[in-house]
Amino acid sequence: MDPRLRGDDGVFNCMNDVDEIGKSLMLQVESAENLDELEAARVIALGKNGVITNLLKSLGKLPVEERLAKAPKYQEWRAAINGTIEAQKAIFETTALDARLATERLDMTLPVGTGRTGGIHPVSQVMDELAEIFADLGFAVATGPEIEDDWHNFTALNIPETHPARAMHDTFYFSEDKTREGRRMLLRTHTSPVQIRTMMSQEPPIRVIAPGRVYRSDSDATHTPMFHQIEGLVIDRDIHMGHLKWTLETFLKAFFERDDIVIRMRPSYFPFTEPSAEVDIGYSREKGRRVIGGSEGWMEVLGSGMVHPRVIAACGLDPDEWQGFAFGTGVDRLAMLKYGMDDLRAFFDGDLRWLKHYGFRALDVPTLSGGVGA
Ligand code: DAH
Repeated sequence: MDPRLRGDDGVFNCMNDVDEIGKSLMLQVESAENLDELEAARVIALGKNGVITNLLKSLGKLPVEERLAKAPKYQEWRAAINGTIEAQKAIFETTALDARLATERLDMTLPVGTGRTGGIHPVSQVMDELAEIFADLGFAVATGPEIEDDWHNFTALNIPETHPARAMHDTFYFSEDKTREGRRMLLRTHTSPVQIRTMMSQEPPIRVIAPGRVYRSDSDATHTPMFHQIEGLVIDRDIHMGHLKWTLETFLKAFFERDDIVIRMRPSYFPFTEPSAEVDIGYSREKGRRVIGGSEGWMEVLGSGMVHPRVIAACGLDPDEWQGFAFGTGVDRLAMLKYGMDDLRAFFDGDLRWLKHYGFRALDVPTLSGGVGA
């Protein structure tokens, strides 16, 4: 290093040509060959105890006139050196990135190996299929938190504290002292609170689906404490049950990849819809097995209805102006019906033999044209 740059006061005093110092520092910056050397040169010039930094600090002790005379030069050098450091840094970083990209090159056209190491879980597959089907109908995907509060999960959905439906949900509550804005926290028992969050954060018209995990304290062959639901919500003007029926029919035909899908809407009750309907899908028997399609028998697949005016109002919208429909169903159940599994618990056991049998290949992305079930 240039001995004049050592930074002790004696050196500075005998060196009154700032340009000399500046040039010498600049040379060190310019001759740096990598990011480490550049950083070392920066510390010498502009670091906490760097040469230019110390020069600038020394200004404070000088009489005003001398300070005004010297300051611009010091600042000029600081700006110039800083600018060169930034430019050099950008070059080194790009070069480093290029070098890394060159070594990490991946040929995307290579055929996939035949040895399968992993697969897509049927739940993920079905969620992808649903997103693909509903995207085609103009629905966006909405999400909400799995750790919810009781206002979004119940109250705003027209399930007040004393409503029997609250007790029916086998809710996992957090301890009473865990609150958010005075609201009791819980694991969401259904995806319906995403309806509330969407209506409160977006302007209508709204068309969303919300797939996700939900939790209830329940466990047997057809119930697990965590399972998956998908919610649908449409809010617009002049929406009626006809829109709901057409949407569900179109969705179920695309999902089960059959044109002979028959649905039956049965009057029912949900606090957040009025009127409410449970939707059954028809099945027929082929060689003793139930096959979706036809109408020899019925299986319940969905809950649905017209969004209750109180729910719309709870979200700050005017129910006289905006109406809509909603529906909700179990994703795991849809997967079981389509791909023929009979024990829900196996979905979450992580048994490799089961995953290998029911899993999907990673590159079999569901598309409407190729058949969503790939
Ligand atoms: N949230 C209901 C449940 O978990 C399902 C449901 C029914 C959702 C009707 C809806 C609906 O959006 O309209 O059982």
